[in-house]
Amino acid sequence: MSGITVSGVAGLPEITPGASLAELIAAAAPDLADGDILVVTSKIISKAEGRVISADRADAIEREAVRVVARRGATTIARTRHGLVLAAAGVDSSNTAPGTVVLLPEDPDGSARRLRKSIGDLTGANVGVLITDTMGRPWRTGQTDAAIGAAGVLPLRDHRGQADSFGNLLEVTVAAVADEIAAAAELVKGKTDQVPVAVVRGLPELVIAADAGSDGPGAAALIRPAAEDMFRLGAADVLGERRTVRDFTSEPVDQAAVCRAIAAAMTAPAPHHSLPWRFAVVESEAARTRLLDDMLAAWVADLRRDGFTEDQIARRTRRGEPLRRAPLLIVPCLVADAAHTYPDRRRNDAERAMFLVAMGAGVQNLLVALAVEGLGSCWVSSTLFCGPVAAAALDLPEGWEPMGAVGVGHPATTPPPRPDRDPEDFIINR
Ligand SMILES: Cc1cc2nc3c(=O)[nH]c(=O)nc-3n(C[C@H](O)[C@H](O)[C@H](O)COP(=O)(O)O)c2cc1C
Repeated sequence: MSGITVSGVAGLPEITPGASLAELIAAAAPDLADGDILVVTSKIISKAEGRVISADRADAIEREAVRVVARRGATTIARTRHGLVLAAAGVDSSNTAPGTVVLLPEDPDGSARRLRKSIGDLTGANVGVLITDTMGRPWRTGQTDAAIGAAGVLPLRDHRGQADSFGNLLEVTVAAVADEIAAAAELVKGKTDQVPVAVVRGLPELVIAADAGSDGPGAAALIRPAAEDMFRLGAADVLGERRTVRDFTSEPVDQAAVCRAIAAAMTAPAPHHSLPWRFAVVESEAARTRLLDDMLAAWVADLRRDGFTEDQIARRTRRGEPLRRAPLLIVPCLVADAAHTYPDRRRNDAERAMFLVAMGAGVQNLLVALAVEGLGSCWVSSTLFCGPVAAAALDLPEGWEPMGAVGVGHPATTPPPRPDRDPEDFIINR
């Protein structure tokens, strides 16, 4: 029989700022041995490190969150500076004095490294250290513990390239062993904070040798890089992800992603159950050059008619550049053939307005869906000011009315954060 044992470490006192956790743990678990993994609830690390503050819980969440991922009623799921996504940005008001909240450790991997070193100095044992917190999971009911800090423990066990029992090559399996150990330790640690530490014995192969000269990659290795994360955005931050991007890298745009974004555009609301959106995807350099050059000529002609000097015209027209820099252009077009006609102008104008706002809804869907795909976009007005010229340059079918143009590509820069806007300033209540 081989196996692992998970033992709770009882008898630790209430932890206060400045407490030496290493001394307290070494005294409460005198038989620590090489290869053991010490699993420590983050809350006692926070308490020892003075991360208990007098603050309103909501204010503390706002300070700790770098991005709100989802929100419903009183529940906020947020991403922290560490890259963790968890309820209340890890701010906890349980097991702490009323009026105070416990914040996550500033640097959980650093805390784990310091604790490992101190335990080694005190006991001579080469242990691994995991710092854990309790998290809910999307799509799964209930919470479980996960590792937010690690030192001397390999957080991931990579099975890729190995064969299963049928000889099939494993292509994606990377076991999050640090999280598995954290969850196992939670089975013996109490929720009441009476047993905030557990010792897991029997996994010495995951513990890094004392003389390796490194504590390993830490729990930071468990944070999925944004570019690989298919679920990076939650319900609350998906709309904010769309920003006007005016500078793009030369990386080509995936046509399938564009197709999915156009499918999203076509789910916008529109009058009379109509489908008024069309999209000219300008792929070839020749088509793009013709469109942009023809539009430029039309714009210059307008400005000359307005009386601007050639110098002024040159300066103004330089602003058309985002479309030249974008790897792909999409010209959204309105086909309003489902519009009703009326004997009077008022109702015809209203009918036109209905189709124009539906077009805006469709383009917004397009831009948001592109952002979800990781693509930046810039919707510019240009074709709206010279519809027939743009339609001719693109040889658009009869009845397609260009509604601006969208430059699409991988963002080369991050737009500055949006200024705070108070919705109350935009609302009247009647
Ligand atoms: C119909 C329309 C036309 C626009 N035309 C231009 C334009 O000609 N040039 C430009 O740089 N941005 C243009 N924009 C983008 C706005 O400037 C941009 O949305 C605004 O600055 C807010 O920034 P955000 O999109 O990042 O929230 C246009 C936006 C809309 C909706």
